[in-house]
Parts: sequence; C-alpha cells; structure tokens
Amino acid sequence: MDPTAPPAPPAPPAPPTPTPRRRFLGRMSLVLSGVIAAAATVPVVGFLLSPLTRKTPRVWRPVGRADTFTVGQTVNVVFEDASPLPWAGVTARTAAWLRRDATDRFTAFSVHCTHLGCPVRWVADAQLFLCPCHGGVYYADGTVSAGPPPRTLPQYPVRVREGQVEILTSPIPIA
Ligand code: FES
Repeated sequence: MDPTAPPAPPAPPAPPTPTPRRRFLGRMSLVLSGVIAAAATVPVVGFLLSPLTRKTPRVWRPVGRADTFTVGQTVNVVFEDASPLPWAGVTARTAAWLRRDATDRFTAFSVHCTHLGCPVRWVADAQLFLCPCHGGVYYADGTVSAGPPPRTLPQYPVRVREGQVEILTSPIPIA
C-alpha cells in the first residue's frame, strides 16, 4: 500500500432500513388509497352501465279521445317515452302512426323504420309508409313493400279506456 496515496473516500452510508412501524404505515396508506379509489369509481361505473341492465318499463300512454279520430284515417300521435330521463326535455317525446280501423278498433305503428330507425311518413294518397333515408316502403298494414327494411313495422298494443285511446309503450327493435 502506498503511504503517500490519499485516503480512500468513505463508503456511502447504507440506506436506512424502514422500521416495522414505517413499513406498516406505508402499506396502510396503499390499502386506504385503493379503498378510496374504489369507493369513488364503483358508483360512477354502475351509473354508466345501468342502462344496459335496466328493463324499459311498459306504460299505457293516452294519445287522445277516441271520438276525435276518424275511421279509416291514419294520423300521427305524440306521447311520452316510458322511461324518460329527468333531463330529457322534449326528446322524451316519441310518436306513432295511429289508425282507426273501426269504431272500436285502432292500430298503432311505430314511426321508426326497421332498417336504421329513420322516422317513416304515412302517405295517405298512396296508402304507404315511406322512409326518407334509404327508400324503404311499407304497405298500409306495415309489411315491407320495397327497399332495405328487414322487417314489418312494429305495432304498439292499443286500448280504449273511458273514451281515451291509450298506447302501450315498448322498446322498438331496430335492425
Ligand atoms: S332507415 Fe329506413 S330505409 Fe334505411
């Protein structure tokens, strides 16, 4: 060993080993952070996924007095969706084509085309429902006449209660 050589630098101090108390507090802080994160996340995820699991209620909605409809005519009626969101406003309103087939018999067709859901229009002169989006055509009984619609126009159950025509709201199947 060279006596004139400068002394070797001191070894760096060893990192302090955490005491059991500090280790315990560190783990507790991790566990508590996880619990708080879960408590904040689970309700939000549940709220976002709830429409997937919630069943649409079916509700009878009044659409007008029976004596205001003429036998043989098909008219557009508006009613409130069965499960409107509190903030939906006018978007909670939906519609149907209502036909008075006889004095005591009504038929209600969905306004939504079975292709991609565009609103169909009743053309009385042609006795057809026409879809403006891709040229879908339905006969007066709702069966497909031409175009891409894969199925007949869905119908809503209809009843007359105390002189009032009511439509049973239901989810409308779209292709
Ligand atoms: S949405 Fe009606 S034909 Fe396409």
